[in-house]
Amino acid sequence: MVFVRAEELLPGMCLARDIHFYEPSLQSAMILKSGQKLSDVQITQLCNAKLDGAYIDTVRSEVRVVSSINQQIRREAISNIHSLADNFIDSSKGVQQGDIEAIGVTTQELIDSLSSQKDILINIADIKMYDDYTYHHSLSVAIMSIAIGIELGLTNQMLNELGLAGLLHDIGKVAIPIEIINKPGRLTSEEFDIVKMHPVHAAMHLKERHLVNENIFRGIVGHHEKLDGSGYPNHLSGTDIHPYARILAVADVYDALTSNRPYRTPSPPNEAIEFIMGGTGSHFDERVVHAFLRKVAPYPTGSRVKLSNGEIAFVMKNYPDQPLRPMVTVIGSEKTYDLSWDLSCLNIVITELIEDKKLNRTLINM
Ligand SMILES: [Fe+2]
Repeated sequence: MVFVRAEELLPGMCLARDIHFYEPSLQSAMILKSGQKLSDVQITQLCNAKLDGAYIDTVRSEVRVVSSINQQIRREAISNIHSLADNFIDSSKGVQQGDIEAIGVTTQELIDSLSSQKDILINIADIKMYDDYTYHHSLSVAIMSIAIGIELGLTNQMLNELGLAGLLHDIGKVAIPIEIINKPGRLTSEEFDIVKMHPVHAAMHLKERHLVNENIFRGIVGHHEKLDGSGYPNHLSGTDIHPYARILAVADVYDALTSNRPYRTPSPPNEAIEFIMGGTGSHFDERVVHAFLRKVAPYPTGSRVKLSNGEIAFVMKNYPDQPLRPMVTVIGSEKTYDLSWDLSCLNIVITELIEDKKLNRTLINM
């Protein structure tokens, strides 16, 4: 299943989720059911309703569907990070030049994929489709970091360095005993001291072999530093923290908070975003946070959400800068709330993203 933008929908594409929308020219609420193949007329209706797009079933579609972040690139990225990590923990080998080159190719592919869709918000659900944590976390952080970097106007070379740092930032964790990484309870101070060394281990290993430049090195080492100096490993503060590290820090914390871990359940997107907004200026760089907020869509179009008034709604449209306040349509009614712009909705907030468990299983099995 992939999210396809409205202007890229084609007749014959098969819907992966129900869509509830209001068609202004017919002045009526419409439902298109999951499993239905889209016709020209229906695509026009979706465009008239100003929907961002629809979730498309790639298996049952009659036409080829291209994902915003290609599946092939994802698989390649995960496999390349995996091989590099295997060499990292194999003391007889170590990370090789070829590993870095392979990761570099993946990074450029991610940049090309994200740069060609400058206007699109990064669908967080779309990049968090898998269970396996460390490698997919690295990919998610790289994708979010590149998206932030594009928003901040970084050059292609900088984006390459930043993406590489994102894919490599947590490699040091593979050398930490799994019982510590997945420990359900609180870490002892000795265990935490071990965890705190993971940015240094990986970065030093790569630097000693002349596999990364100073910028990538500082990006990896500094991804747990905080602006007020309370981070680790070097307690750096403010602009002493490399700009790449400041970007990685936001992407890393967002992905970590919203992921399912053995020691805690995932935070909902609104809480993770509020946590990051709350740490702006003390933990996180303000410019980075603003760029992040303009690029993420924690409630992607087509997702189901619970509202603070108890109603269940479909997300119709996202707005840059207002990730927590999309336009929604209440399921089973004609009511549409534009949470960003309609002043009568100021007291309504999204309280929950309703995950479709059956759908998630299908995604993971793809
Ligand atoms: Fe880390």
